Amino acid sequence: RRPAGAPDASLARKVTKVGVVGAGLMASQMALLFARRLQVPVVLTDLDQARLDKGVSYVHAEVDKLAGKGRVSPDQANRLKALVTGSLTKDAFADADFVIEAVFEDLAVKKQVFAEVEAVVRADCVLATNTSSLSVTAMGEDLAHPERLVGFHFFNPVAVMPLLEIVRGGATDDATLATAFAVGKALKKSSVLVKDAPAFVVNRLLTRFMGEVIGAVDEGTPLETAEHALDRLGLPMTPFALLQLVGPAVGLHVAETLHEAFPDRFGVSANLAKLVAAGKPGVYRPDFSLDEEAVALFAGG
Ligand code: 3HC
Repeated sequence: RRPAGAPDASLARKVTKVGVVGAGLMASQMALLFARRLQVPVVLTDLDQARLDKGVSYVHAEVDKLAGKGRVSPDQANRLKALVTGSLTKDAFADADFVIEAVFEDLAVKKQVFAEVEAVVRADCVLATNTSSLSVTAMGEDLAHPERLVGFHFFNPVAVMPLLEIVRGGATDDATLATAFAVGKALKKSSVLVKDAPAFVVNRLLTRFMGEVIGAVDEGTPLETAEHALDRLGLPMTPFALLQLVGPAVGLHVAETLHEAFPDRFGVSANLAKLVAAGKPGVYRPDFSLDEEAVALFAGG
């Protein structure tokens, strides 16, 4: 059955090569998923060779895990590894049909990335963004062809979470949207079409939920109590484990975007902001302060 709002599938373009901008964890997980489900070459790009190597190594290690569980044969594992390569330049996207970015959540950075991508790709290449909260319409405003830009928002862990939010920007055309839905289907995800609104749908709901949990802890509820109480609701993961999985910086960015859009409804935890400002991927604690001892505590998890 056609998902609500999806255009006629016959409008979808064929995808025979995928480009992924960025080689961080989210981008690497996406690269593996595209290679595994579409069985097409996937090129990761990054400005930094070490990050690129790390991204490709991550893919190889995950393929080995799949082979170890018998999910892919040894032959398929070798083929999958060969499909995912890294490149320091975006020229590798010249013959790609679908390029997705998963770089830092900053509108100017993403606009710059798409300007560079648009300079090398074919006119019919779909451009997709994995942004978790930024406006797809704003991201496309300087593109020569904003009609080929679409939001394609995965959830952590990419390999496991079935949901995909597909975002129609102000200029996105039907062929681009149909291609996005066809790719989502090939990836075996459940795609939903969402409005180009701040944080779309899921992060808006999740941020409200997480904001209240963090707020309760900031106001004095022991963290363990909040974790334990909610655990018993049958959630797949405790709230603060989820914050770690998503990354405190990403969680903060989404909260700030929503606060800007709806200041009456969304706050930003000062403690969470301090934790992120410290630049440590630490574990959230309400009594966080920037002294060395506390930073060491967070860094140690
Ligand atoms: N990569 C690949 N596979 C993974 C994985 C990862 N990072 N993490 C878990 N898995 C796989 C495991 O290998 C296992 O596969 P198997 O059944 O084939 O062996 C399967 O997932 C289940 O894992 P576990 O048995 O280790 O653990 P759980 O049953 O507890 O499940 C979980 C782990 C799927 C992460 C579960 O805790 C969960 O669903 N948590 C909620 C996650 C969530 O809400 N994500 C959305 C975050 S919001 C977001 O991402 C948006 C962004 O914009 C901020």
